[in-house]
Amino acid sequence: MRPKVASFPAARLRRTRQSSAIRALVQENTLSVSDLIWPVFVRDGEGIEEPIESMPGVVRYSVDRVVEAAKQAHDLGIPVICLFPYTDAALKTEDCAEAWNPENLTNRATRAIKAAVPDIAVMTDVALDPYNINGHDGFVENGEIVNDRTVEALVKQALSQADAGADIIGPSDMMDGRIGAIRTALEAAGHQDTTLMSYSAKYASAFYGPFRDAVGASGALKGDKKTYQMDPGNGDEALRLVERDLQEGADMVMVKPGMPYLDICTRVKSTFGIPTFAYQVSGEYAMIKAAAQNGWIDGDKAMIESLLAFKRAGCDGILTYFAPDVAKALA
Ligand code: PBG
Repeated sequence: MRPKVASFPAARLRRTRQSSAIRALVQENTLSVSDLIWPVFVRDGEGIEEPIESMPGVVRYSVDRVVEAAKQAHDLGIPVICLFPYTDAALKTEDCAEAWNPENLTNRATRAIKAAVPDIAVMTDVALDPYNINGHDGFVENGEIVNDRTVEALVKQALSQADAGADIIGPSDMMDGRIGAIRTALEAAGHQDTTLMSYSAKYASAFYGPFRDAVGASGALKGDKKTYQMDPGNGDEALRLVERDLQEGADMVMVKPGMPYLDICTRVKSTFGIPTFAYQVSGEYAMIKAAAQNGWIDGDKAMIESLLAFKRAGCDGILTYFAPDVAKALA
């Protein structure tokens, strides 16, 4: 129950907004560098930082350069770096075998980062889309995305990432039963300390467009992802997904996209009280950047405000392409 409060003029709510000192004192939520997970794109080659047109300021790093980026991120205090591979078209196949190749880009980058910057946590993505000839997160049979055979492949992919040294494995595929299958396999393989951050409430969203450019999946994708990603009109279903993933062995859960789904973040956190994260996705980043480049909004202020909103909504942390900029702004 809310306590009874005084009314005007005993209560002048502007009193606590009068100076930066008092405002700082009463601020309820804060954004800190330790809240940040930095998603990065990795590609083949050496000495490469290749700009991504639809994501101004974001590049694809070759493995040597992503190690440098990880060092800088660690120096800035960013606790986690999250890897997404830009896979050569020649390596995309129907059987997606590159997904569990111990020498694939993600696994090589993980080993290189863990060798050079052991204290930054590496997060990896589990889903078949970077390796799939048709751009889907699961196998396609007769035009349908099949669940159980996909889960078997995701388990192999997750195990190869754990073997490479990933600290956090993030299944983003939205197949049913994958968290339980991956958890069982990790335990059996002696990876009992590998954490799972499930993309539990991942929506079929128009905000992933620039990401699909970044990983080279836009051209490949046939159809949409609506038979496995969530309907943007649904909220209760997100809670069922989170509950299911927690029962199957997820340590942390994620809501994705972020800004249009803050209500889901709040419901997840208040219902389960578990480590809750949001992904401020590529399209959200691109919107803020594009408006700022046009001089329509102050990009730095919008960046901080958007991220503080996630904290207010109940998130413990945020995956954001702004991570290094935020870290510098907060330093
Ligand atoms: C795919 C995946 C996607 C993103 C992360 N993992 C795109 C999709 O589901 O099509 C999107 C991230 C972003 O937009 O920043 N498994």
